[in-house]
Amino acid sequence: MTGVTGRDAAAPDRRRFLTAGAAVLGAASAQLWLPAAARSAETPLPDGVFSLGVASGDPLPDGVVLWTRLAPDPLNGGGMPDRVVPVEWEVAEDERFRGTVRRGVAQARPAYGHSVHVDVRGLRPGRSYWYRFRAGGQLSPAGRTRTAPHRHSAGGTVRLALASCQNWQHGWFTPYADMLAQDPDVVLFVGDYIYESVPSATAPRRHEGAGEPYTLTQYRNRYAQYRTDPDLAAMHAGAPFVVTFDDHEVDNDFAGGIPQDPDKQTQEAFTARLAAAYQAYYEHMPVRASAVPTGARIRMHRRLEFGRLARLNVLDTRQYRSDQATSQAGALDPSRTMLGADQKRWLLDSLHGSPARWNLIASQIMLAETDLLVGAGKQWFYDAWDGYQAERNQFLKEFRSVRNPVVLTGDRHLTMVSDLKEDFADPDSAVVGAEFVGTSISSNGDQDQAAFRREWDPRRPDNPHWKLLDAHRGYHLFDIRRDGIDARVRIVDTVRQPKATPSTLARLRVEAGRPGVHLV
Ligand SMILES: [Fe+2]
Repeated sequence: MTGVTGRDAAAPDRRRFLTAGAAVLGAASAQLWLPAAARSAETPLPDGVFSLGVASGDPLPDGVVLWTRLAPDPLNGGGMPDRVVPVEWEVAEDERFRGTVRRGVAQARPAYGHSVHVDVRGLRPGRSYWYRFRAGGQLSPAGRTRTAPHRHSAGGTVRLALASCQNWQHGWFTPYADMLAQDPDVVLFVGDYIYESVPSATAPRRHEGAGEPYTLTQYRNRYAQYRTDPDLAAMHAGAPFVVTFDDHEVDNDFAGGIPQDPDKQTQEAFTARLAAAYQAYYEHMPVRASAVPTGARIRMHRRLEFGRLARLNVLDTRQYRSDQATSQAGALDPSRTMLGADQKRWLLDSLHGSPARWNLIASQIMLAETDLLVGAGKQWFYDAWDGYQAERNQFLKEFRSVRNPVVLTGDRHLTMVSDLKEDFADPDSAVVGAEFVGTSISSNGDQDQAAFRREWDPRRPDNPHWKLLDAHRGYHLFDIRRDGIDARVRIVDTVRQPKATPSTLARLRVEAGRPGVHLV
């Protein structure tokens, strides 16, 4: 996102903030910017209302969403008094808050778990800002965010980090420490932000609570626990996120209004669970008011523009899909939809009407084929796009007339980088795009790489479109420029302890105007 200011020009200040963060926060605490009369009018709140930190998201050229949630007792419902609490916010052009450019007061309401979402506008494009909150005399940590480039900007670099799948019980979220050091302009999170699984006594870290979350309070506690991971909290305070959810934010493998195990709960009970899960999701994510849920519905598909360099289409592959197939023939059934009619139309319009050089699609689940059966015949995962082949194949045909489509995906807990083929049933069909499946932050933990190779390498001849396959934990980092996208697969040596050693597993490149991806 450096088309306007230039990455090099902006870098020194931003680096200094990262290394001197603690000192900056200390200095900021001494500055209370509200007049004394207004301060004394507030009723005291319990200590530690900012235990969940701060976040920002969905950057626009002139604005960004600022987030916090007041929760002095985060794992026990939040611990706030049952009343509306005013929360001051301010945005500055410098880390010491000498030059405040926007400020205001938001209301933290009990009905939304005392979360705060401020949709700040009037900012300048393509630059960093610092922000903080104050409530009841307590000052939040400072966060740093960044606006999107000017809408006419076509040059520069946007550095995007792709993350997904952070299972608390499988390990610490150590890849975020490296991600923060890489200083991305924006972090794209494509699902499984929490896992709804029951606490395990043998896991490296244990889920809070006594079972799966079902109620709003239970989901709030689960999100709050995840936010206490220090590397995740620091990443949220360091760059804006663009988020979408997959299944584990609600229930494994759910499809629309259908739960994983329809026999184990009534439809009414699952609808109530969806409503609780979506509300807790909204409360904890830095998203706009368009994502305020209505009962068991939440609007998450949307697009973000990074000048004329990149358009990011964020999909919702959970709420509108048909139930999963249960056979190979079912996966080919043309009546099965992944996106639903409205979202499908919206996506096609967005792709074909795009002025952008790069058309990115954030999909929770993998688009390219995974043929699990070694040798003749095919065996697919029915929860992924392979289980919705007619709709997937229709999209791939459309890709021929879309400028530089690149799909960014999660779910698989593996790095899988693929060429997208117009028709995976025809080995000679054209390459029409590229897909990056961005491993996982912690899900599956530290895998036995040799065992993974033994299981997956025999499948490679059946899947010649796979360019890279790996089972380390980490994330993908993209430098998006006019002429090409340079991608790095960043991995860590462990998630079984709080500190890890990061490294680059591989470098890949997508050339503008040449569909497909290659190892560098
Ligand atoms: Fe996952």
